[in-house]
Amino acid sequence: MNNMKQLHKHPSANHRRDEEMMSTHEIPPYSPKSLKHTSAVRSISRSVNYILKEQRLLFTLVGILIGSVFFIYQPSLSTVSSIDTVTSNELPSMRAVSFSQRDTNTHYSRPATHGATGRIPVGIGRKRMRVVVTGGSGFVGSHLVDKLIARGDEVIVIDNFFTGRKENVEHHFVNPRFELIRHDVVEPILLEVDQIYHLACPASPVHYKYNPVKTIKTNVMGTLNMLGLAKRIGARFLLTSTSEVYGDPLEHPQKETYWGHVNPIGVRSCYDEGKRTAETLTMDYHRGDGVEVRIARIFNTYGPRMCLDDGRVVSNFVSQAIRKQPMTVYGDGKQTRSFQYVSDLVDGLMALMEGEHIGPFNLGNPGEFTMLELAQVVKETIDSSATIEFRENTADDPQKRKPDISKAKELLNWEPKVPLHEGLPKMASDFRNRILNEDEGKGNK
Ligand SMILES: NC(=O)c1ccc[n+]([C@@H]2O[C@H](COP(=O)([O-])OP(=O)(O)OC[C@H]3O[C@@H](n4cnc5c(N)ncnc54)[C@H](O)[C@@H]3O)[C@@H](O)[C@H]2O)c1
Repeated sequence: MNNMKQLHKHPSANHRRDEEMMSTHEIPPYSPKSLKHTSAVRSISRSVNYILKEQRLLFTLVGILIGSVFFIYQPSLSTVSSIDTVTSNELPSMRAVSFSQRDTNTHYSRPATHGATGRIPVGIGRKRMRVVVTGGSGFVGSHLVDKLIARGDEVIVIDNFFTGRKENVEHHFVNPRFELIRHDVVEPILLEVDQIYHLACPASPVHYKYNPVKTIKTNVMGTLNMLGLAKRIGARFLLTSTSEVYGDPLEHPQKETYWGHVNPIGVRSCYDEGKRTAETLTMDYHRGDGVEVRIARIFNTYGPRMCLDDGRVVSNFVSQAIRKQPMTVYGDGKQTRSFQYVSDLVDGLMALMEGEHIGPFNLGNPGEFTMLELAQVVKETIDSSATIEFRENTADDPQKRKPDISKAKELLNWEPKVPLHEGLPKMASDFRNRILNEDEGKGNK
């Protein structure tokens, strides 16, 4: 027991000894000589401090004076400070800007959308964007890529080639500003970019009905993954939604304020409801997480590089007319659609991405045609001897579709320019080449 007590006592005794030693070391013994010496040193250091403070004040005043004169006489530089005055909403993309400034050959205009109000200082070129286009090897995506590359951007295409084709973007393979990644957007991916155009999703009924569960997964999980990426890296995100969100509309023409008339359990629902959910997710990421988002509601679009025989009415009619087959009209052919040439759509998507407005925006050509009228234009453009064959209509086929584009006209300063009789021959010549050369196996579609 005694031994135990000893053991317990020992450390505290040592501790006291340590404390004694420390205090002995810190407080020197009293000496009048050292006191005298210390007070002399103190008074010298006080005087030195006083002189230093005076000098610092002088330097500060001179600095402020020089700064003010400089900024008053250099208006171009004063715009730099306006970049600091971005709203909290704009902050994410300001962060993203710095990503690509790291390795940027600045050579073209930085869009006004990224918080940069006012002039860009002389000598600081506008930055090159790094842009992801999901579904970029598809029909619309590949035309968008062409325009982004032509603008000087760095473009990364993400595609699983379900309906897209490498041939649509192969002319960019030699370009160091272009990258193609085989990836399914249902799985997450990590990249550093400024903007995300999210197009990945089969768009034609034949394709989206082929695997409806995959279609809705692409719309929901794919959009979630891309929004998550946008949030993480502070990129601006654009969703390509569709006029299908209006379903079989009870309002005509359709304005963005119309909430739609959609069958939630039909064969087209995987696409229609998938896109509606994608819009919901997009707005929730914006409201909840401050992600900068844009929503386009695309109406029927046509042009070169569309899949042959994809069930969309223009591509069907054109390829049937070229192959000398009858054009199949479903139902009585009186249902209407509007047809937008792809270059108009690409202009609209870019105007939306670069603009200040979230949307949704209808992007389509308001020129309205019945299926029979369209067949007539195809006949006139491609083959005057082409014939028509009527078939039973498909389920949930909307009777009328025509966009009201006044919002896009007013806020994006955008409207389509290419009429059907101009766009159709361009598409027909691409289709003719592909059909004649048989360069597109069925496996690609
Ligand atoms: N073309 C139109 O008339 C039209 C109309 C309304 C909306 N849209 C929308 O525009 C976008 C592009 O349409 P499009 O006409 O170019 O169609 P498309 O089928 O030619 O292109 C879609 C692209 O997405 C890719 N893709 C599909 N699922 C994917 C996945 N899970 N992961 C990665 N890539 C995937 C395809 O391989 C293809 O390259 C789509 O989102 C579509 O819903 C198009």
